[in-house]
Amino acid sequence: VCFPSAEHPYSHLIDTLKDGNKFFSPQKLNDPRYDQLPLSIRVLLEAAIRNCDGFYTKEEDVQNILDWQQQQNRAEVPFSPARVLLQDFTGIPAMVDLAAMRDAVAKHGVDPSLVNPKCPTDLIVDHSLQIDYSKCAIQNAPNPGGGDGPNQSQGPSRSTPSRRGSQCGGQRGSCSKAACSDSPASSGRPAASVQQIENTPLLCPFHLQPVSETETALKNQEMELIRNKERLQFFKWCSKAFKNVNMVPPDIGAVHQMNLEYLSRVVQVTDGFIYPDSVVGTDSHTTMINGLGILGWGVGGIESEAVMLGQPVSLTLPQVVGCKLVGSINPLTTSIDIVLGITKHLRQAGIAGKFVEFFGPGVSQLSAPDRTTIANMCPEYNATVSFFPVDQVTLKFCHFFGEKLELLESYMKAVKLFRIYEDPSEDPQYSEVIEINLSSIMPYVSGPKRPQDRVAVSSMKEDFQSCLDEKVGFKGFHIAKEKQDTRVPFLHCGQEYQLSHGSVVIAAVISCTNNCNPSVMLTAGLLAKKAVEAGLVVKPYIRTSLAPGSGMVTHYLNTSGVLPYFSQLGFEVIGYGCATCVGNTAPLPEAVVDVIKQGDLVACGVLSGNRHFEGRLCDCVRANYLASPPLVVAYALAGTVGIDFEKEPLGVTSEGKEVYLCDIWPTREEVQQTEEDRVISSIFKDLRGRMEKGNMLWNNIECPDSVVFPWDHKSTYIRSPSFFSKLVKVPPPQSIESAHVLLFLGNKVTTDHISPAGSIARVSAAAKYLLSKRLTPREFNSYGARRGNDAVMTRGTFASIKLQNRFIGKPGPKTLHIPSGQTLDVFEAADRYQRDGIPLIILAGKDYGSGNSRDWVAKGPYLLGVRAVIAESFEKLHKNQLVGMGIIPLQFLPGENADSLELSGKERFTITLPDSLSPRQQLTVKTSQEKSFFVTALFDTEKDVIFFRHGGLLRYVARTLL
Ligand SMILES: *[C@@H]1O[C@H](CO)[C@@H](O)[C@H](O)[C@H]1NC(C)=O
Ligand SMILES: *[C@@H]1O[C@H](CO)[C@@H](O)[C@H](O)[C@H]1NC(C)=O
Ligand SMILES: *[C@@H]1O[C@H](CO)[C@@H](O)[C@H](O)[C@H]1NC(C)=O
Repeated sequence: VCFPSAEHPYSHLIDTLKDGNKFFSPQKLNDPRYDQLPLSIRVLLEAAIRNCDGFYTKEEDVQNILDWQQQQNRAEVPFSPARVLLQDFTGIPAMVDLAAMRDAVAKHGVDPSLVNPKCPTDLIVDHSLQIDYSKCAIQNAPNPGGGDGPNQSQGPSRSTPSRRGSQCGGQRGSCSKAACSDSPASSGRPAASVQQIENTPLLCPFHLQPVSETETALKNQEMELIRNKERLQFFKWCSKAFKNVNMVPPDIGAVHQMNLEYLSRVVQVTDGFIYPDSVVGTDSHTTMINGLGILGWGVGGIESEAVMLGQPVSLTLPQVVGCKLVGSINPLTTSIDIVLGITKHLRQAGIAGKFVEFFGPGVSQLSAPDRTTIANMCPEYNATVSFFPVDQVTLKFCHFFGEKLELLESYMKAVKLFRIYEDPSEDPQYSEVIEINLSSIMPYVSGPKRPQDRVAVSSMKEDFQSCLDEKVGFKGFHIAKEKQDTRVPFLHCGQEYQLSHGSVVIAAVISCTNNCNPSVMLTAGLLAKKAVEAGLVVKPYIRTSLAPGSGMVTHYLNTSGVLPYFSQLGFEVIGYGCATCVGNTAPLPEAVVDVIKQGDLVACGVLSGNRHFEGRLCDCVRANYLASPPLVVAYALAGTVGIDFEKEPLGVTSEGKEVYLCDIWPTREEVQQTEEDRVISSIFKDLRGRMEKGNMLWNNIECPDSVVFPWDHKSTYIRSPSFFSKLVKVPPPQSIESAHVLLFLGNKVTTDHISPAGSIARVSAAAKYLLSKRLTPREFNSYGARRGNDAVMTRGTFASIKLQNRFIGKPGPKTLHIPSGQTLDVFEAADRYQRDGIPLIILAGKDYGSGNSRDWVAKGPYLLGVRAVIAESFEKLHKNQLVGMGIIPLQFLPGENADSLELSGKERFTITLPDSLSPRQQLTVKTSQEKSFFVTALFDTEKDVIFFRHGGLLRYVARTLL
């Protein structure tokens, strides 16, 4: 981060707050365009002004951002986020590189302690536990330790709802409580529930931790520490040796939750300078933070490493879709309904790759957890971010972080990053506007037989009636007209009751999924409280139950004082987690079963879980509805689904007073207040306690106190990579003489071909290496887990069984070693060429390097000795990654390719580079067959050329220190 000196081109914009902190005031530009900019773009602008150094960020960039109206979707602009967030897996390669850089500069007599991340970096040691130690996580994680890109599924987080749902059911017998619900492995991300209807997995920001550490959890931690000792020791060294590195020990919390709860700052203050917080992270949930007005999104491991080395993220100035929220929220709608309703709108709007920014008077109705949940759902609608500018609601929430609210507010107001949503005069101009009327988001239930059959609560009564009429099917029971009014009286515990079609006999409040959004369970609890206070009861023959998702849910229901009321209505806690997913509730009273049979009644079950099958609750219950937890309570109170809540009372008190649902439904304000006072504050308190206590086992890990890392040569996880092996002060000449083609590839080579994730095949080059280190195949672990070992990762480069190499007839990780004519593993061929001093290139077709970011996609080929890739076209991100590693991306001229030029790939190639290379310059390639053709060097800027000259960003940064 460059802090303003006198020569800073924008030093005239510096202003001082009352408390003495300085800041850049873009308003001092006196440019009317500033007030029209979306607030998310103002954040980009401030960062560009502050970081303007004439190299990474230029005055032209600042002008382009200011001119966003005209430049959106055109200009490429830099963004230097205030900080970087890494998970352990993705953090390892970056940290290993920095440690290796310390060695390299020390060898040249430079003080190694000068090598540090250039911006604050939070490293959260969390994922290893999930991946290695939980049965459920392993079963749910399709690709343990897989890629590191933001779109990559990390552990169980983004499995589809149906899949997750069925696994939950399938594991019922075998899956222990500890493994499935209370271990950190389940990660608190919900499977599905009512929202399954929408086929939208709800990505939730709150992971409620179990209250007390179970023995299993401790055991797991211990095992994790033993298995991962090398890595953890290394991390611990990093946190001590590097400035700007903040390490969060294992078992404190999941990354995204930490990000929200512990690491968010809304504003950052460094050396008396105040500026907006912003972040790039390697977790796909990074976007969640935009719910608090903090701009941030997920990037790949290489990109985050580049930011740590001082290079901004490069992005095309985005279009910003203004999402205007109007209308008031229907009282029966829960937060989850709202979140899913808004998500659905955004998905239909098709806003892939754009920023979404919320505005309009409706926004203030959303609580901070609602906003972060919506922001977290970005991957569902492919927006880069969903940004909620800071307002009073944000401020109120931030006081949980212990933020200095006055400072925050006065700064945000001074730079016009603060919104009063009710005031349209300050609305920015957006690229386009989507309006969502919040009152159009209706509460729904679904059923009576399938989750996809949605019924608006307001038409439930008619819908049930028509189900009685219809012929037997998903929406029909075909009850003869004259039998539809059947009422059968019976005795239960000495009292007479009667059942009819539509009578509720089972009501289950289940929070398999709702534990991520405390407000929904709280609404149900407050409703129960008010019902009891109004004198209502649930008829005793109704089988009622309460299954909170975890001990934490019970805990917060208890601390908010609603648990006793649940219990008074008969909703007693029956257990936790998937073991209790509906199906094992106690049997119905015999009298009830008899009456249902006798009257051939369509009796009903109402539940808030995610499993939903006819007859699943009980054979004799033919209609089953999924509803939100508070609606389950409401239908239980009514005793029937055949009710129009607006027109009919829920019940009559013993004094004969009619009580309507609207009389006792808690207001959103009430729920939010309770949530803030009782739940969120206790989550934060709990988290702070954990942070302070740290983790006993972690605290006991010993680690060296040295400035440079004492590499353990026996380690197979952490090795010093050889990027700096021949680092000299003056960059060497770069021409590529008589190169061989390592691989002759076709179209659409993906990052997964280049650097496959997942397990290490037993017959691979990486396996040979690990065997030589005396590991057994069981100890190989995955490429993901070994990304701190360049020897494994280089051998894993192009080790995909799906690789289609034109030198070889069938797919596989093999290539032709041209001089000998032998077919070898890609690594072995490359190794021979390197030993013979022969440079290598790759020939490829269109779209080279598409797919998720993987941190070894450029480092791997570099260490294999690849100097250039000649392709018909490149994925932009991958092209930048190659440049960052000093590999030259060369593009065939339009219309040309290896076939049109009649290349066999077996000739040798010479690419002469002129002394002064300019962006997008054409170069001549000559072959040993006396052929020559032109290619374009895909350097976009002078900066790219400089990186290339230095052999990549890492070596460039190291050289600046020399
Ligand atoms: C939102 O919808 C409701 C009900 O349809 C309507 O009464 C209200 O006027 C709408 N609000 C706006 C701002 O369009
Ligand atoms: C989001 O992007 C993915 C992959 O690019 C694509 O498959 C999906 O259809 C997109 N979804 C939407 C809603 O645009
Ligand atoms: C609820 O809290 C009370 C008082 O703190 C405690 O005695 C009780 O055991 C708690 N109940 C549950 C179910 O946690």
